[in-house]
Amino acid sequence: MTILITAGPTQEAIDPVRYLTNRSSGKMGYALAEQALGMKHRVILISGPTQLDIPAGADFIPVESAREMFTAVERFISQSDIAIFAAAVADYRPTSVPEQKIKKSSETMTLELVKNPDILGSCRDVFHYQGVLVGFAAETEKVEEHARGKLLRKGCDLLIANDVSRQDIGFDQDENEIMLITAEETIPLPKDSKKHLASHVIKEALLISQEKAEQ
Ligand code: CTP
Repeated sequence: MTILITAGPTQEAIDPVRYLTNRSSGKMGYALAEQALGMKHRVILISGPTQLDIPAGADFIPVESAREMFTAVERFISQSDIAIFAAAVADYRPTSVPEQKIKKSSETMTLELVKNPDILGSCRDVFHYQGVLVGFAAETEKVEEHARGKLLRKGCDLLIANDVSRQDIGFDQDENEIMLITAEETIPLPKDSKKHLASHVIKEALLISQEKAEQ
């Protein structure tokens, strides 16, 4: 199988020395890549900037902005049987980026932002992707309800939901507590290492892929 994974944050330039970004270490996406490689699958890892080592054996596509990630996914997704969207994509980017550094002037400054393309949300309608689609949802309230809405809205087969309001798990931590959500069921997994959780996610995605093939 070929598994495409997006990981890490995106960086959206404000000027040549500044950017907007999301809080993301990339650990979950890289753990997914490691697990899939360990199971001898081909991995296409499309990643925003992180401090992590590139998983050995992955086809690694480094990107910076959401638009670059969109283009990379558009280019490679048709090669994959399963696509997992673990990246923390910046929802907005500055409308225009000056060539020179912005100098301090007035006491306040306003930055105009424009929406970035929804990469996961483009898979079915824009990229016409027919493989197994796995999304992530970082929520702070009504976790299952919001995540289930996202599953349907973005045409996912599986959605991985986590509660980012909790300090002990998630961002930059080695552990997480997630729920696996499909159209039929919700499977809550106990708090565990990102490595073990990644292995659960890959196995569930492979199961769905098998079910789809048998239909
Ligand atoms: N995602 C993406 N491209 C974007 C934004 C998000 O591919 N521009 C993917 C993420 O990688 C993740 C999923 O979509 O798998 C959830 O993103 P999120 O921003 O939480 O979803 P939204 O529908 O934008 O909902 P919200 O209003 O909560 O931001």
